[in-house]
Amino acid sequence: MANVIIIGATGGVGRRLARLLVGSGHTVIGLHRKPEQATDMSGNGVSPVLGDIIEMTPSELADAAQGADVIVFTAGAAGSGLDRTTAIDGDGPGRAIEAARILGITRFYLVSAFPEAGRLRERVDAFEHYMAQKKRADADVAASDLDWVILRPGKLLDGPGGDTVSLGRAITYGDVDRETVARVLLALIEQPSVRREILELTDGRTPIQEAIGDLRQG
Ligand SMILES: NC(=O)c1ccc[n+]([C@@H]2O[C@H](COP(=O)([O-])OP(=O)(O)OC[C@H]3O[C@@H](n4cnc5c(N)ncnc54)[C@H](OP(=O)(O)O)[C@@H]3O)[C@@H](O)[C@H]2O)c1
Repeated sequence: MANVIIIGATGGVGRRLARLLVGSGHTVIGLHRKPEQATDMSGNGVSPVLGDIIEMTPSELADAAQGADVIVFTAGAAGSGLDRTTAIDGDGPGRAIEAARILGITRFYLVSAFPEAGRLRERVDAFEHYMAQKKRADADVAASDLDWVILRPGKLLDGPGGDTVSLGRAITYGDVDRETVARVLLALIEQPSVRREILELTDGRTPIQEAIGDLRQG
């Protein structure tokens, strides 16, 4: 069983992943930045740790992650400003990598973004900045010596989720439910032989386990 710290545990993907992990018998530490979020998290079987990724040093982040053997980074500034996007989406994963090194954690999962996101609409400077920060974080993670997986979901929706996907190193852009993303993350965490991979994810027709099995053989 894994002991997973989720950075972004109160978010759309993070809280769904926490529920699935707990339901499968894994242990979950959830980083949260508002004190009032702790009660709900505890009630759902997650150990809450208060902290803001912008303000935490890598050493403080390592303190928060004590006992974990897997880090999931699914935090995001969610359009709350350019500086916050730089600090959370851009710098955050690098800080989490430093925390992993302090603790000797080797397994790291980053929820990133599909390179084609937003390409078919008018240019929005803040969105271009967001995409550049996501790419900067991808580069930090991919250059690390960790056993990382960078997961790039398509446009996130709040539907019920499915058990079939399109998952691969390069696929066509599309939508995917946050619930499906959480299911894929759970399956990846339970399949550590899939590592040092950049994977794109949308809704599709391949059962999640089969899609991940194909990667193992690849
Ligand atoms: N929207 C899309 O279509 C799309 C597509 C591809 C990828 N993504 C990326 O996928 C990831 C997950 O998306 P989502 O919809 O689950 O995001 P979300 O619901 O906006 O969740 C973001 C999480 O980050 C946390 N967070 C924000 N600032 C923080 C800080 N300073 N310190 C610690 N935690 C902080 C939030 O905490 P609070 O609860 O306190 O706000 C929340 O838990 C994000 O990185 C997003 O950029 C999004």
